[in-house]
Formats: sequence, C-alpha cells, structure tokens
Amino acid sequence: MDRGRAVWWQSAVIYQIYPRSFQDSNGDGVGDLAGIVRRLDYLAWLGIDAIWLSPIYPSPMADFGYDVADFTGIDPLFGSLADFDALVAGAHRRGIRVVLDYVPNHSSDRHPWFQEARSSRRAGKRDWYIWRDPGPDGGPPNNWLSEFGGPAWTFDPGTGQYYLHSYLKEQPDLNWRNPALKAAMEDVLHFWLDRGVDGFRLDALHHVIKDELFRDNPANPNFRPGMAPHQVLERLYTVDRPEVHKVIADLRRIVDGYGERVLIGEIHLPLAQLMRYYGVGGQGLQLPFNFSLLKASSWTPASLKPLIAAYEAALPAGAWPNWVLGNHDSPRVASRLGPSLARLAAMLLLTLRGTPTIYYGDEIGMENVAIPPDRVQDPFEKNVPGLGLGRDPGRTPMRWSAEPRAGFTTGSPWLPIGENLAACNVEAEAGDPGSMLSLYRRLIALRKEQPALRLGSYSGIDTDPRCLGFLREAEGDRLLVLLNFSDSACRIPQKGRLLLSTETARPLAEIDELRPGEGIVLQLA
Ligand code: GLC
Repeated sequence: MDRGRAVWWQSAVIYQIYPRSFQDSNGDGVGDLAGIVRRLDYLAWLGIDAIWLSPIYPSPMADFGYDVADFTGIDPLFGSLADFDALVAGAHRRGIRVVLDYVPNHSSDRHPWFQEARSSRRAGKRDWYIWRDPGPDGGPPNNWLSEFGGPAWTFDPGTGQYYLHSYLKEQPDLNWRNPALKAAMEDVLHFWLDRGVDGFRLDALHHVIKDELFRDNPANPNFRPGMAPHQVLERLYTVDRPEVHKVIADLRRIVDGYGERVLIGEIHLPLAQLMRYYGVGGQGLQLPFNFSLLKASSWTPASLKPLIAAYEAALPAGAWPNWVLGNHDSPRVASRLGPSLARLAAMLLLTLRGTPTIYYGDEIGMENVAIPPDRVQDPFEKNVPGLGLGRDPGRTPMRWSAEPRAGFTTGSPWLPIGENLAACNVEAEAGDPGSMLSLYRRLIALRKEQPALRLGSYSGIDTDPRCLGFLREAEGDRLLVLLNFSDSACRIPQKGRLLLSTETARPLAEIDELRPGEGIVLQLA
C-alpha cells in the first residue's frame, strides 16, 4: 500500500468497551458514560487509538442494548447526550477516536416505529418491519429460525400476522427494502457523524436483507448436537443476500461525506463471502471484522499458519486486513487458550498485518467468570440453556483494583466480579513489568514505534515446526516475529536485536534461544 496515504484506522489499535461493564460512576452496579470518561487517562496510557462502544441507546435491555428503542438517544442508565458529548470531547483531546455500534438489522419492540407498525395493518410504518400472513396451518410463514432459539417469527394477535425477528422476539427486524425506513436509518448515521463520531461498527450486517420470496432455508448437513439450535438450517435465504451490498454502499457514501470515518462490520460468514463486504471500488466496508482467530479451535503453528495465509490470500486488492481475539459474544481468550498461550496470542494480534481490536479486560488477562444460575443475565443462555452458549462469563466488570468490587462500582455489580482479583486487576498489573497488562502496553507502544508493524508487508516463513514465524517489512526495516508454542526451548534461526519478548521482565539482550512458550519480536540486521 501507499504508506504516505495511510489513514488513521489502518494504523490504529481499536479497543472495545462493553459500557455496562467498564466503569460505574453512580453506584447502580452498571457502567456508564461518565465512568468511561473517568478512565480515558487509562486508555491513553495503554496507548490505544480508538474506542468502540457497544450500544448506549435507550433500550429495554432485552439483549443489553442491542434492542434499541431510540437510535439517536442515550439510555439514562448510561447517562445523557451531554455525557456523550463530554466523552467524545475528552477522547478526542487525548487523540482517541470514538466508534459507535450501529444496529441496522432490528430495533426493540418498544421502539415507537414498531409500536406504530403493530397498531394496524394500515399503519404508516407497517412496512418498516417484516410482516407475513400465517402459513397454511396457521403456524409461521416459513421455517426460518431465530439465532437465539425458536422460530424467527412471532404472531401478533392484534393484526393477525407474524413479524420477523432474526434474534429475540423483542428485536423485530427492520425492512431495509422500504425506502422510508432506509432513509430514517441513514439519518441516524448523520445524527452521530454530526456529533463528531469517527465511525461505526455495524451489527449483524449479513442479516440486514432477507430473501424477497421468503423461501425456506435448507437443512444443514453439517449440523451436530451441541451446536446452536438455529444451525440445524443453512441460512441460505436469511443472510448474505446480494442486495445487502447496495445498502452498505449507500451507508459508505454517507460516511465518506464526513472525511476519514470508518465502517467496521460484524459479519459471520465463510472467508470468500466475507471478502465481498469490502465492496468494489471503495463502496464497501473498510474493515469487515475478521473473526478467524476468535473462532480458531486449534492454536498450533500448524493450524495458525494456513489460517493467516488463507486470510491474507483472500483479501481483495487494496483491502486492509484486521484481527480480533475477543468480543462480548465470546468466551474470554485467556480462558479459551490458557494464560501462557494468551500471551502469544496478544503478540500475534498486535504484530500481524492489519488493524487489531482488543476486547476490554483481555489486556489484563481477564478470564471467564462462572455465573451462578440465579445470576444469569444473557437472553441467549436463558433461551438455549446448558449448551455453554451464554455470553455473561465474558462480560463481567472490568477489574481496576483489588478492592472487593474491583473499583468498578460502589454498588452491587450487575454481573459477578469473579475469582483471582488480587492478581488480575489494572492497579496490580500496571506496577508489574511481567504482567499481561505490561505486555499489551509494550506491544502497543512497539507497534506505534515500528512502521513495519503498523503498515509493513507480511510474509510467513518456514521455521522449526514448534514455532510460528513471520516477517514484517517496511522502509528497509525487517522484523521477525517468532512464537514458540511448545514447552521446550527453540533456537532462533537468525541474528537480530530483540525488541520485545512476551517475557517482559527479561532483559533485552541478544538471545539465540526462545524459552518454552515465549514469543519475540526481533529486528533483523
Ligand atoms: C450481534 C451482537 C450481539 C447481539 C446480536 C443481536 O451479534 O454482537 O451481542 O446479541 O448482534 O443484535
């Protein structure tokens, strides 16, 4: 790429905040915007460049904010528009950009639009949602299933039709084929762009357009017990419909009208389909999220090497890569991989080519927190219990200190804080050069210092099979990243200057051997 013209989101490290769990400022046990403002200095110290906030809009919280009752307001639980403006101003003063979550696929069933739509078949906004007559047997109009369990259709007795919801019945799907709805949702982007936000993460984007003919989805031959129930069908007619790309192109045009703003997409599709979301001729997303590391079931050099190569090879010309290790829908990376591999994963995330997104708390090695049955909050777990699909364990409060409530709240936290607080919290780790937090901070700083890491080329190299190795090169600078996945020492194939080791307490001397489980960044002569 032309390095002279790199834009901010290419060299940025993005940090996802789940606002309910970051910092409470008023003692109600739920995080809020004023709390985030209080922690901006921490974020600046950590060195991240942008925050993405999960939804902060007015919401009945059936899906913790992903059920939006007003796309241009702030839920009182999180604060006010004035608090939001203060957050944007405070972030921008520190050079931190603000990315909002935009939820195009559905609203809350409490949204005034839906209230009007369900009031009568002739209501002006009826067609802003997706209504169908019952099937011949009086049941749902077709076999489509909700991602959160059960049919994707709910009967509305008042008007005698079913409405579609790809998620909860409290999240009716919006009808993007209706021009007035589309215009109203586009106005939402203008509203926030005019307030100074730097971009959007677009929720569940592959769902936005459904088959016009409402055809049944076929059976999924790869379905296995233990998978989420909706996976019994292939989502042929419910996701990734070709018309979605036109919707995206129109959103992109709006965002481009404001200069350097970014669109990031949450899209769960196989690689080849995902790549189409970059669009043609700059009409798509700048960053369709790459979840391949998040979803990798095996973390060995033998499996990661082809995974990275396949992603790099699939990128269309001019497309900018990105990497994700954790988010609010997944188990914590430290629990998926264990503490030692999680350090290698951190180095991988921050040294691969492309924009990395860090999930809050992963930088201190937060693990899944066991949620007692009477404290389960996530509707997914409540609808589909016992399969381990619940998302609460990875959404627990940020741990700022070893105080009993982790410095998160003075009240009673909405989810438990969990074990091992004394060792795993910001205050303790900030003072420990060997901590996960120190590793993240140094990796972020190194990325800033080294153009080869930020914007350089990537090439996988052949190494000892126990290791994963690759080169990052820019402006004549060559960096070797080498990660030892084994429990034995591993020789370093080339001489160079050690810039960073995952063993952050180790002196930066010339070394010729990697310790078990160690990762390094080496500057080659
Ligand atoms: C996305 C969000 C998830 C939410 C769902 C429905 O997948 O990441 O948290 O439940 O969309 O909005």
